[in-house]
Amino acid sequence: MNARISTNPELDAPIPERWPTRLTELLGIRWPLLLGGMMWLSDARLVAAMVRAGGMGFITARSLRTDEDFRQALRECRELTGGQPFGVNLTLSRRASGNDSMPARLRIALDEGVRLFETAGLPPTELMPIFREAKAIVIHKCAHVRHAVSAQNMGVDAVTLVGMEEGGHPGSNQLPTFLNGAYALDQLHIPLALGGGIGHGRQIAAALALGADAVVMGSVFTPALETPAHDAYKQRIVATDAHGTRAVLGSLGDTWRVVDNENARKVAALEAAGARSHAEFGALISGERTQALAYQAGQHEEGMLSMGPAVGFARAVEPVADIVRRLQTECMQASSRFRAMLAST
Ligand SMILES: Cc1cc2nc3c(=O)[nH]c(=O)nc-3n(C[C@H](O)[C@H](O)[C@H](O)COP(=O)(O)O)c2cc1C
Repeated sequence: MNARISTNPELDAPIPERWPTRLTELLGIRWPLLLGGMMWLSDARLVAAMVRAGGMGFITARSLRTDEDFRQALRECRELTGGQPFGVNLTLSRRASGNDSMPARLRIALDEGVRLFETAGLPPTELMPIFREAKAIVIHKCAHVRHAVSAQNMGVDAVTLVGMEEGGHPGSNQLPTFLNGAYALDQLHIPLALGGGIGHGRQIAAALALGADAVVMGSVFTPALETPAHDAYKQRIVATDAHGTRAVLGSLGDTWRVVDNENARKVAALEAAGARSHAEFGALISGERTQALAYQAGQHEEGMLSMGPAVGFARAVEPVADIVRRLQTECMQASSRFRAMLAST
């Protein structure tokens, strides 16, 4: 146990070394905190920082241009974690380009010793036999309770269910995270991670009290010190509040929640004018353009900057370990308050 963490005796609570749940046991981590894969951002350094802080992170396989770059990223991550396990995110996009490379990327990850995968987007039907043969752990991320149940039936080890508040691609689901989670718990027997809009420790306490086995976060970590993005982007993110994001492309069945920057407003205008295919949005929705202009060059009004309203909790550029520590502190304070309330009845 660590020292006390609050000056308010009512809320004071020690942070335990571990908060065990079915998912911490499955993944071999200390705290039920997952940093979901983030396209272009979840590189070796960011993922390793999350692992060292006691949670789990996932390198986004699609962010690496070549198989060799991907292999190098995995080796770098293994070195940075000191050999502790880490995960790989395999996103199967609705835009088919890039999906073909996923089986090869999976085999490279297995070859490099990775045994933990976050799948997302389309169901990982074709990858399942490879996972099973390798005895890998698969957490499938989806936005609909019925998709979570299908994934459970398909044999995944755990599911992440995200609500419509999620930064990135929350799908066509309109339910918020906690409603989604409450419905799902009646229908799932495998471990559940809950995500979308979570950026404060009191939400983590609430998710665990609800019955989730972990939470998955993304937006609140985007301006972390270790995130591979330009400082101008990070300053824009810490200045963005809970109302600074918008969902676009819902009319294409491909909802994308992003920072409400100039680029997103152009996309919204085109959509309002009737554009209904990805091709009509051209470079405005190009991932490579977002990477080059916004993440690398710091031109934050360009590109599609995946982000949800949990960004409002990110108020400084700080190391991942400090963000995790804050979340743990807030979570313990919220759970002590709850325990004290129960004890007083
Ligand atoms: C910048 C960014 C990029 C993301 N890219 C991906 C991705 O490539 N694949 C994926 O499965 N999820 C992606 N996500 C979703 C996250 O993995 C996670 O599910 C989500 O951030 C949780 O919701 P929150 O943003 O409200 O915390 C991304 C999220 C963000 C913020």
